[in-house]
Amino acid sequence: MSQSIEILVADDDAEFSRVAAQRFIKILEVRDHPLVTLPTGYTPLGFYQALITDYGQRRDLWDGLRFIALDEYCGLSADDERLFASWLARTLLDPLAIKSRLLFDSAADPQQEMVRVRSLLHEQGPLDVAVLGLGGNGHVAFNEPGTPFTATIHTVTLTTGTIAANALYWGGSERVPPQGITLGIQDLAQAGSTILLVKGAAKAEVLQQTLQGPVTAAIPASYLQTIKNVTIIADRDAATRL
Ligand code: PGA
Repeated sequence: MSQSIEILVADDDAEFSRVAAQRFIKILEVRDHPLVTLPTGYTPLGFYQALITDYGQRRDLWDGLRFIALDEYCGLSADDERLFASWLARTLLDPLAIKSRLLFDSAADPQQEMVRVRSLLHEQGPLDVAVLGLGGNGHVAFNEPGTPFTATIHTVTLTTGTIAANALYWGGSERVPPQGITLGIQDLAQAGSTILLVKGAAKAEVLQQTLQGPVTAAIPASYLQTIKNVTIIADRDAATRL
């Protein structure tokens, strides 16, 4: 495993959220107008609540933060509750009044959207901080197994596994759009700092493969072994195989 990966293991949900929030804040504090991407999912919920509760007043941090979407479904209208952008707005960006938001337009033509956001990221990037979740199949954002590490922003046909995982949120697979758009591994790998959040026994094996297995596109998150300034925050259940 890379020497620059730090692993923090939390005993319970409260500690997980506190450790994640403290680490994130510490990184933000030393950066000026950081460009930050953040994940959707169950894993970061407590972390986001801790940011709102414990650091909501830190206007110096939130006014300076520039958010860029990690990934998004394609083909949804701007008022659709399933948009990752809406979920993140409700869960974190609105409560913290983070104004600077670079989002994917889900309703736009995906190919044109890919070109538009690539060009914005080129102008405004690279990322300063990437906070990521880990998919059960090793994906990060919508970079599914097999995605080359050289990929930048691209559209993707979601795997059946990812559709099944997303179906839990929206009440069935048929409610999950089949296509997504995502930052690529290359975009994520350029981040100045990366925090990977991992919870639950179901992620233990893939976390071990991510950190200790071969660096391979078959486990997209394994690119983390090749970059600097990576922090893994895991709960006890996810860390059992490390
Ligand atoms: P989860 O999603 O936090 O809901 O487990 C992680 C992911 O698939 O990226």
